[in-house]
Amino acid sequence: MYTHTNWRRQLEQSFAGNGGILNCSFAQLATIGTDGRPANRTVVIRGIHSVLVSAFPDSPATGSRVFFEVATDRRSNKCREILHNNFGELCMYFSGTWEQFRFAGRLYHIHNQVPQHAGLAGISPEELEAERYRVWKYVISENTRQSFVGPTPGTSTNNFEDQTLLSAQVEAKSSQTSASDLGYENFSLLLFEPDRVDYLQLSTRPHSRTIFKSSPGLGVEQWSFENVNP
Ligand SMILES: Cc1cc2nc3c(=O)[nH]c(=O)nc-3n(C[C@H](O)[C@H](O)[C@H](O)COP(=O)(O)O)c2cc1C
Repeated sequence: MYTHTNWRRQLEQSFAGNGGILNCSFAQLATIGTDGRPANRTVVIRGIHSVLVSAFPDSPATGSRVFFEVATDRRSNKCREILHNNFGELCMYFSGTWEQFRFAGRLYHIHNQVPQHAGLAGISPEELEAERYRVWKYVISENTRQSFVGPTPGTSTNNFEDQTLLSAQVEAKSSQTSASDLGYENFSLLLFEPDRVDYLQLSTRPHSRTIFKSSPGLGVEQWSFENVNP
């Protein structure tokens, strides 16, 4: 039995081995559409966030939960989909080293006006809101912040109300006004917590594939792994 640091160590190594390649922080995030069909899109992984938690209520912290962070617009389809069903998959391909990571797990929508999901029990709403603000303020760029002032993603460009918002966005951009107050309302942090990692290595002969699984009953940091045929 190994801890999750194994797949994390592998992931860190993959990031390091692909340092010169911009697209290694991009990933494909799949959700389940409200109509039951798969929905998949490209996102930027803004960081990996660890939260110290206890495996059992009222006992001292015994380990950490690990979340991938994605910045998004709270009005986008994916946020609605997650409220409906929060299972998701994140897929990353490292082209320099021919490696693929498929992470399966759950997604959590972090916004101070969205009720905290039961799956995050044990983590304080203040801590989650502080992390949302940190990513807004210090991780994403001013250009990205400006994008949250604009119209609702996916709505028709003929919508008059949205056009007014678009003008506000253009104005904010041209006057270099910080989008802090304007866009923060629409800014959501998505936390993705994997419980299964399917790691495929195609640069070796033979190819290799390892499945890591978390074992919730055994404590927050316990992961098992098995090498399988690719
Ligand atoms: C290179 C690239 C990076 C992107 N990064 C993000 C991102 O970090 N967050 C995000 O919400 N959308 C991002 N998008 C846009 C999404 O792929 C998608 O079009 C948008 O979020 C709407 O998706 P939805 O309607 O399924 O919610 C990115 C698109 C591209 C091409």
